[in-house]
Amino acid sequence: MSNRIYIFDTTLRDGEQVPGCQLTTDEKVQVAIQLELLGVDVIEAGFPVSSPGDFRSVVEISKAVTNPTVCALSRAVVGDIDAAGEALKHAKRGRIHTGIGASDIHIRNKFGSTREAILEQAVRAVKHARGYVDDVEFYAEDAGRADLDFLCRLTEAVISAGATVVNIPDTTGYCLPSQYGDKIKYIYNNVPNVDKATISIHCHNDLGLATANSLAGIMGGARQIECTINGIGERAGNTSLEEVVMAMKVHKELGFETGIDTTRLYPVSQLVSGLMRMPVQANKAIVGRNAFAHSSGIHQDGHLKHTENYEIMNPLDVGVDKSLIILTARSGRHALRHRLELLGYRYDKPTLDTIYTRFLDMADVRKEVNDKDLMELVR
Ligand code: KIV
Ligand code: ZN
Repeated sequence: MSNRIYIFDTTLRDGEQVPGCQLTTDEKVQVAIQLELLGVDVIEAGFPVSSPGDFRSVVEISKAVTNPTVCALSRAVVGDIDAAGEALKHAKRGRIHTGIGASDIHIRNKFGSTREAILEQAVRAVKHARGYVDDVEFYAEDAGRADLDFLCRLTEAVISAGATVVNIPDTTGYCLPSQYGDKIKYIYNNVPNVDKATISIHCHNDLGLATANSLAGIMGGARQIECTINGIGERAGNTSLEEVVMAMKVHKELGFETGIDTTRLYPVSQLVSGLMRMPVQANKAIVGRNAFAHSSGIHQDGHLKHTENYEIMNPLDVGVDKSLIILTARSGRHALRHRLELLGYRYDKPTLDTIYTRFLDMADVRKEVNDKDLMELVR
């Protein structure tokens, strides 16, 4: 089995479902172009039947990008699939993503149906979608809580019906990493035609486990990860693209590869955050303001001696131009001297001691001491 992991970005579909984060078609096209430059393999561009605006966005994204597959979401109903097929007409590579609830909770409480009827509907939907495109992905919604043997039967049936990708979503973010990884492994070992399709994973972050679950999923055999920039998405969000990609890059021993140009991660994160008016939390892994900022004296001293002491990746690798030393009342003399030297000031030890004492007084009041404050202090 190849170790190439396909990155399926759903920022413009699952991510855009976040209240207040809706984008115009032009904004979506702008993001899609950046996602193409980032190197994602698939862009889920929208849910065409849901609104004329979403339909238009799928059409325009299909025209605007060349390399990534453009994917359109649908439920397992004819009208949805027809809208998705129509919207993808201009795509160089189009994919319809269709599916239905697979857990007994969804089958009973959402559809008032039975496993057998759901299985038949799934097969019909995949066959109908194949009338539009050669690439059809099936999602077994709430697979995280679905009966495993039913999930295997469903997977086998949709692959026989023509699905090229089968998505096993942890829709409610319920699974633990070991459970999710085992689920994927079980599907690999028990679905006879599994080699005819790619297994995809789509994890939500309700327990803060989406990234861990996605990694467990690829270790279990899945080869596509569905994720979003900044981890945005329904409720607590989806797997964060930058986190899974950097986890694979940092842990080379896992042997996984992606097509992502990681130096574009930070700029894309800023673009999405700005357009969606959704700030990135300061301590967000990889792209948060503090992801490469060192503020305690012990860490600053260690970092200044050797960056590897407190950094597991080079900020340049994710498009951040440098690490930050934040001067606060927890900073030590080493960090203060370093910053003063960058500003062109050099002092002997007794003078530095005096400045340091005054610096601590200032830091207690101002919380963070910036370059302007420092110049004021030394003057
Ligand atoms: O979370 C989920 O199950 C989904 C599907 C529509 C793929 O977003
Ligand atoms: Zn989802």
